[in-house]
Amino acid sequence: MPRINSSAGLEKIRQEILSQRDPVTPCVSICAGAGCMASGAGEVIAAFKSEIEKQGLQADVNTRETGCPGFCERGPVVVIYPDEICYLQVTPEDVPEIVSQTLREGKVVDRLVYADPTTGEKAIHESDIPFYKHQVRNILGSNIRIDPKSIEDYLAIGGYSALAKALSRMSAVEVLEEVKKSRLRGRGGGGFPTGRKWEESRNAPDETKYVIVNADEGDPGAFMDRALLEGNPHSILEGLTIGAYAIGAHEGFVYVRQEYPIAVENVVIAIRQAEELGFLGRNILGSGFDFTVKVHQGAGAFVCGESSALMTALEGRAGEPRPKYIHTAVKGVWDRPSVLNNVETWANVPLIISKGDDWFTQFGTEKSKGTKIFSLVGKINNTGLVEVPMGITLRDIVFKIGGGIPGGKRFKAVQTGGPSGGCIPEELLDLEVGFDELTQAGSMMGSGGMIVMDEDTCMVDVARYFLNFLTDESCGKCVPCREGIRQMLKILNNITKGKGREGDVELLEELSEVAGDASLCALGKSAPNPFLSTLRYFRDEYEAHIREKRCPALCCKELIAYHIDPNRCRACMICLKQCSAGAIVGGKNRIHVIDQEKCTKCGTCIEVCPARFNAVKKISGEPVPPPIPEAERVVTRASTEK
Ligand SMILES: Cc1cc2nc3c(=O)[nH]c(=O)nc-3n(C[C@H](O)[C@H](O)[C@H](O)COP(=O)(O)O)c2cc1C
Ligand code: FES
Repeated sequence: MPRINSSAGLEKIRQEILSQRDPVTPCVSICAGAGCMASGAGEVIAAFKSEIEKQGLQADVNTRETGCPGFCERGPVVVIYPDEICYLQVTPEDVPEIVSQTLREGKVVDRLVYADPTTGEKAIHESDIPFYKHQVRNILGSNIRIDPKSIEDYLAIGGYSALAKALSRMSAVEVLEEVKKSRLRGRGGGGFPTGRKWEESRNAPDETKYVIVNADEGDPGAFMDRALLEGNPHSILEGLTIGAYAIGAHEGFVYVRQEYPIAVENVVIAIRQAEELGFLGRNILGSGFDFTVKVHQGAGAFVCGESSALMTALEGRAGEPRPKYIHTAVKGVWDRPSVLNNVETWANVPLIISKGDDWFTQFGTEKSKGTKIFSLVGKINNTGLVEVPMGITLRDIVFKIGGGIPGGKRFKAVQTGGPSGGCIPEELLDLEVGFDELTQAGSMMGSGGMIVMDEDTCMVDVARYFLNFLTDESCGKCVPCREGIRQMLKILNNITKGKGREGDVELLEELSEVAGDASLCALGKSAPNPFLSTLRYFRDEYEAHIREKRCPALCCKELIAYHIDPNRCRACMICLKQCSAGAIVGGKNRIHVIDQEKCTKCGTCIEVCPARFNAVKKISGEPVPPPIPEAERVVTRASTEK
């Protein structure tokens, strides 16, 4: 394609691309996101290519490898357009049938469509699946419609028209005003108003300014930013370029962790394509505006997602935070005004410019506008990425979209906000999701991690887990964070091991206050959150651990024991054979007994004990009943046959 020199030229190219695409020609969109690739999408893609050829349909069917549409739990995901027939958990063996039935005959392969696990009701179209039906996928929705390596695909869905509009019909100040009016707040954690940050940078006296994409995404279990950068890299570049124009920056960076190789590859390809077509480089779309973008791969330290640490790492130094008496928007990379925004924040910008602030503000609540992508994981039926309007309740996310808790277990809490977020209990399930609402509940929005926990989760152990993560990830520069979190972790470790003492909770509270007040950056300042939020809602669990040496969720290894109920054991030998520690004594017709000295508490015995016997018990806070005498351990034939 030739370099595009004007807004009219872009429209002409778009029309040319669309004229070459017959909207009724079937297109098989196969998710090639990391989740589906891990479940065998590579083989499914290869199978489609060879089967389409084998059945002589090359000229009549298109295939497309796309980014993640979110329903990773049921991957590999295949959507066939234009009818939008969605097949889930597709294997290479299913492909011949899909090609012969759906592509040739127009028939639906019933067994591959979504079926509701409880009612069995089927949903053929992607938009009818409950997981998608309750979402508003302004940003993520494009992923399944484009090949991220094809700029033509992006142009075909209207890509770069927001940039063209901004450069040809709006002044930089007008762009800034539009973003301010949209009331977009940063999606990376703090929820800072994006327009205000841009304005601060724009007004900073230094002529050289930078714009940066924060794609560090260090939260365990979170992959919203990866999915966007992998699945729709041009949308991020378009948002970044619009931001650069509004601020007056001519250089930008994508800071992405090197553990995201597909994201790196796709964004590098996208930059090259955008340069070739004139969306990046000198005199963009003939507007006289120059802007270039470089990719910087981070080494994967959580703290490098923090703005000042990220900027220090960009400069080629160790990624440690520094005090921010002056905002990085004024003094950032190389002491120049630098606007850092999260991937999802940038992805919103083209939509706001092309559709307007009125369109954007129709979604969300008074103080939290637009949609938010969450990475829904943990004890939930439908794990994956969900994009929801702000203001939706946690209950709707967990139950309507997430499909509830597996195994008939009870919901206990949802952890939001990443490692320094907090746990929200069942009684707050009707809380509306928004920046301020989550903060008031003792958690935070963070960048969108959402971990669902069921009744088997110990909340003291959850706090310990996140404090352990943060201890590892603290850069060590400031004492309150380096030493404070470590001490908190030590106390929490003791509590979960049954060595908790009276006064521990008060000491943890004191340490929380100091770390929160005196740490250099938000890693240390927010590190006490996992403890404080679990204490706020689950204090009884702390008390049970400390005073009764009991873990109510039967989770903390040092506080639980397994024993076999002699009245239920049928001496079937299953647990005895599977115990890798050799801790179970007994034999054929001999009631089994667990040797507590040898037991490693791996839980295999309880898992393998047949449900009809249900003989293995897990206990906490009470002594293990003494084994019955040797002579009484006989299981008679009659009792075995019961
Ligand atoms: C320890 C730490 C890690 C962070 N990691 C990320 C991250 O991975 N991605 C991100 O966008 N923001 C992260 N942030 C928030 C950034 O410092 C910054 O506020 C954000 O990138 C600004 O973009 P936004 O205004 O679009 O949210 C982190 C903050 C802290 C304190
Ligand atoms: S990776 Fe395919 S649906 Fe998420």
